[in-house]
Amino acid sequence: MGASYKSFSKLFNHFPCFLYIERTIESMKVAVIRKAHFNAAHRLYRPDWTNEKNDAIFGLCNNPNYHGHNYELEVKVSGEIDPETGYVIDIKILKDIIKAEVTDRFDHKNLNEDTIEFKNLNPTAENIVVVIHQLIRAKLDPKLDLSVRLYETPRNFVEFPV
Ligand code: NI
Repeated sequence: MGASYKSFSKLFNHFPCFLYIERTIESMKVAVIRKAHFNAAHRLYRPDWTNEKNDAIFGLCNNPNYHGHNYELEVKVSGEIDPETGYVIDIKILKDIIKAEVTDRFDHKNLNEDTIEFKNLNPTAENIVVVIHQLIRAKLDPKLDLSVRLYETPRNFVEFPV
């Protein structure tokens, strides 16, 4: 990449038309990433397990009175740049999808008690990120790729798909 890239760059600087040709030949897939945030409470437990087993597996996360997280979300949409608009996706459209499907649904909610998505699904970060992916995927143009990253704490985060 090094040498050939350098020589290509020199050509681009002197002959901008080369850049245009390169663009038409090669894929111009770009990722657009939108960040979002929501607060939610949850409790990790299985009703079919004993308290002892829930405590052993989920520890403090099994607190019967729930606990909260400041969830940070990164939604990555990838696709070809539309030659007409220069966009992969209008970020306003992505912002509105995230608001309608994720933050309006989960912000300031008790995930176990207030949402149908986690009525019978343990709201681990892993399960939450898959649910968020499904909700956004359903509203997104099928030609676009989607990947979601969810931070439960600044140091603990999950990503789907892998
Ligand atoms: Ni937790």
